Amino acid sequence: MHAQKLEYTGEVAKATASIYEKLSRQYKESHWQSLAPYIHEINRLKKEKNATILAHNYMTPDIFYGVADITGDSLRLAQEAAKTSANIIVQCGVHFMAETSKILCPEKKVLMPDLKAGCSLADSITAEDIRQLKKQHPGIPVITYVNTSAEVKAESDVCCTSSNALKIVEALGREGHDTVIMTPDKFLAMNVAAQTKIKVLFWEGTCVVHERFTAKDVKDIRKANGDVVVLAHPECPPEVIAESDYSGSTAQMDDYIKKHQPPKAVLMTECSMSDNIAAANPGVEMIGTCQMCPYMKMITLPKILQTLRDETPEVLVDPAISKRAKKAIDRMLELS
Ligand code: 13P
Ligand code: SF4
Repeated sequence: MHAQKLEYTGEVAKATASIYEKLSRQYKESHWQSLAPYIHEINRLKKEKNATILAHNYMTPDIFYGVADITGDSLRLAQEAAKTSANIIVQCGVHFMAETSKILCPEKKVLMPDLKAGCSLADSITAEDIRQLKKQHPGIPVITYVNTSAEVKAESDVCCTSSNALKIVEALGREGHDTVIMTPDKFLAMNVAAQTKIKVLFWEGTCVVHERFTAKDVKDIRKANGDVVVLAHPECPPEVIAESDYSGSTAQMDDYIKKHQPPKAVLMTECSMSDNIAAANPGVEMIGTCQMCPYMKMITLPKILQTLRDETPEVLVDPAISKRAKKAIDRMLELS
């Protein structure tokens, strides 16, 4: 389909006014006028095609507040994908999230605005690596972070996300395991290990975004902003978690801010998360130390519109792999 020029008309202004009211601190009016026509057209097409947009907390505010139907962390997006009655899912996030939706809803069309939006953790481990780990440690269960390919999940015993990792480890402990293997994020594994008596063996994967934060960053932020509350994602190194006031998944950090409304807060995580929280919590001053995820930032409004119009690119998972990966995801959903 040919690209059509989208204009900021009176109709667009009226239809998007309530969204801009929330985002006026994030976008200057001239910038907003270039975004609003996309938002309007995407929302029209979504209705026409009975499509739903699942957007991760790291999406930019124009996507997060403008076109998303469901927002959240990896766990919530997976749970909502499993429940949706839409014909089409447009996954605004990274590739493993779209694969998870396809595995949970094989009969639905799952679209992704850019198939190149990957993840350094997913790239750090293969299905063969898991088979080798199992050979080296027979009988020890493998817990695999959802930030992995369908093939890797298919070889694993159970999945976890950053919000339920400790719960899953403890649940396996109650089943009689005194040791577990957590792949592929070594920092998530080390941070979980610090909270449990169960021995956690880990893989050497890291997130390119969270590995960059240091304990010195936290100390410097505290020096410059006396009463700031520091929240850190569990993909950060343990020294960062030790210096922080709270650690949790993206949704858990969001809940913390909503509930406690600290005067000043800093999130040791991806940048858009702070922007989205700032828009919803005008009384909280978000301090701007953050890191950009190059993969998440590949998702933009023009790409979402094109994907929805052309119904491509579609994310497909081999049915045999999907069936085995689903077992590991279902087990996680049951345990959490
Ligand atoms: P959450 O599940 O906490 O949203 O994390 C996903 C992710 O990719 C963090 O980098
Ligand atoms: Fe992957 Fe890190 Fe980006 Fe999350 S922030 S998608 S873990 S690279």
